[in-house]
Amino acid sequence: MKKRILTGDRPTGKLHLGHYVGSLANRVKFQQEGMECFFIIADYQVLTDRLYTRDVEQNIYEVLLDYLSVGIDPKKSVIFIQSHVPELAELFVYFSMLVTVSRAQRNPTVKEEIKSVGHGKKMSVGMLSYPISQAADILLFRPDLVPIGEDQLPHLEQTKEIAITFNRTFKKVFPVPETLLSKTPRLLGLDGHQKMSKSRQNAIYLSDPVDIVAQKIKKAVTDSGREIIFDPIKKPAISNFLTIFSFCSGRDIKELEEAYQGKGYVEFKSDLTQVVNDFLEPIRKKRKEFASDPKFIREILVEGTKKACEEGEKTMKLVRKAIKFDYPRIFE
Ligand code: TRP
Repeated sequence: MKKRILTGDRPTGKLHLGHYVGSLANRVKFQQEGMECFFIIADYQVLTDRLYTRDVEQNIYEVLLDYLSVGIDPKKSVIFIQSHVPELAELFVYFSMLVTVSRAQRNPTVKEEIKSVGHGKKMSVGMLSYPISQAADILLFRPDLVPIGEDQLPHLEQTKEIAITFNRTFKKVFPVPETLLSKTPRLLGLDGHQKMSKSRQNAIYLSDPVDIVAQKIKKAVTDSGREIIFDPIKKPAISNFLTIFSFCSGRDIKELEEAYQGKGYVEFKSDLTQVVNDFLEPIRKKRKEFASDPKFIREILVEGTKKACEEGEKTMKLVRKAIKFDYPRIFE
């Protein structure tokens, strides 16, 4: 039996190098290893913190184009839109009955997000409950593995709990999925911030043109001193550059440290720019090709979402039966 994986992204904009290093590269690997891959474009989840400003449709296509341009193959993987799978909303309703309010409030990632947005007492039920919705995203497809970054760990914990509670309360419908934590380090932002992120404009996008990449790297913060060594505590920015350099060139960090002994930041940054641009070139090219065929990329979403609905329906038949909510619909 092929192993099934499920993971995904919120469509809030184009994907960047941090996404590639931390997640997309692994997805391509899973796909090559013959795993059955499901990738959810989680548009409902965008509403949690961007209820008024968003461009969901455009961003769904940006994410899709990034997926395709790094080598996610729609013939092998299922790419689908969350809000177009009604079973996800239904499953969320059932799951929401299995989670206490106090449990929902204990999710550390949600706590963090509430703090950073300053919602405080004005926090919406949607914000509090999106991890339950994410549990539905995952469990509807009964995957074996869920590859994620560290910030998603609390959601996976909650997902597993929901699976276990459901199975115990009703009937064993959900295999408890395994979490696969990305081993690659998270990339820092070019401004030295902890994370490359869309909102801080400190990221190199997979679709950035050559001159923008050059500009961004030129302006990126460095550390004091002039040695090029890997030391994330004393030299966070240079270490981050080394990680990127190594990832994009395939050269060892050790080897790079030796190669740049006695050389300055300027030369290092200039070579880094070259390496990143060489790495991104085929990705940019593929992106352009796909972008020139909107009918084809739309079809990918149609096909993927259809498949997701079919899979979802299979699980929901079991779920409705298990919770004795399978009385005949009056429209049937
Ligand atoms: N919360 C994830 C993120 O912000 C996106 C996501 C939604 C997801 N549903 C998922 C990830 C299911 C993994 C599995 O990146």
